[in-house]
Amino acid sequence: MKAGVIGWPISHSKSPLIHRYWLAVLGLTGQYDSYAVPPDKLENFILTMPMHGFTGVNVTVPHKQAVYDLLHGAVSDQAAQIGAVNTVVCKNGALKGYNTDGDGFLEPLAALSLKGKAVCVLGAGGAARAVVAALKSCEVSAVAIVNRDVPKAAQLLCDLAVDGKAYPWLESTAACRDAALLVNTTSLGMTGQPLLNISLASMPSGAVVYDIVYAPLQTNLLRSATERGLETIDGLHMLIGQAAIAFELFFDKKPPRNTLHDAALRALLLA
Ligand code: ATR
Repeated sequence: MKAGVIGWPISHSKSPLIHRYWLAVLGLTGQYDSYAVPPDKLENFILTMPMHGFTGVNVTVPHKQAVYDLLHGAVSDQAAQIGAVNTVVCKNGALKGYNTDGDGFLEPLAALSLKGKAVCVLGAGGAARAVVAALKSCEVSAVAIVNRDVPKAAQLLCDLAVDGKAYPWLESTAACRDAALLVNTTSLGMTGQPLLNISLASMPSGAVVYDIVYAPLQTNLLRSATERGLETIDGLHMLIGQAAIAFELFFDKKPPRNTLHDAALRALLLA
């Protein structure tokens, strides 16, 4: 079975490490490689997947929306809601798009009851769409979105029919005041990007701070949260969570997930 990840560029992708680890542990003969696919070659790559023997591919930057469009509605409900595809599965010659980012994001939040709680999301790009859609499925009471481009954040709330309000960064303290959960979906704090510096002083004690950035693993935001005594969740949880759902779609087997395997995989990803 042949699977992989497509993007442009692609060399940064951690997906091969994750899928190959699980394939090796399960003793499966499947392969998982990365493919650098420029935008002008995307349509041909996707449409010829059945011919080239692919069971599926993961889709990363900048192709998630373009692949959604190329599949002309042959997508899961979640992908349709988000308007982007991060996984294409090829079964019996037919292609179907999925978006596993939202469920991957929710995986480490399973023990947290978010129903009826207010949450705050930093950012309003593609990753934020998946996160806000996932939070809506948890029946949160309201989503405060903080973004540089405030109308874009308001549009995201409108598109996903989610109650909430859009805030500029200057008002981030007000935005996260009542939040049971704060999520960073921006690229701020990523290696090579500016640091994310906001005050968490107004957040309720017992709140959780989740950064989907995983390089570095301990971001400035997570350090501030720890100093404030708040629980933190790092970005490897979502990375591994979304991959696990895709793995099962590709290989029809659940990946080996337990404390030992997840710890070994995290060590591999951080090496
Ligand atoms: P992704 O698919 O990873 O979400 P994206 O769609 O390009 O990537 O979204 C990037 C997010 O990070 C956006 O919310 C962006 O803010 P704007 O919508 O205002 O552009 C945010 N972002 C990126 N660089 C930023 C910066 N230097 N300062 C503030 N926000 C930034």
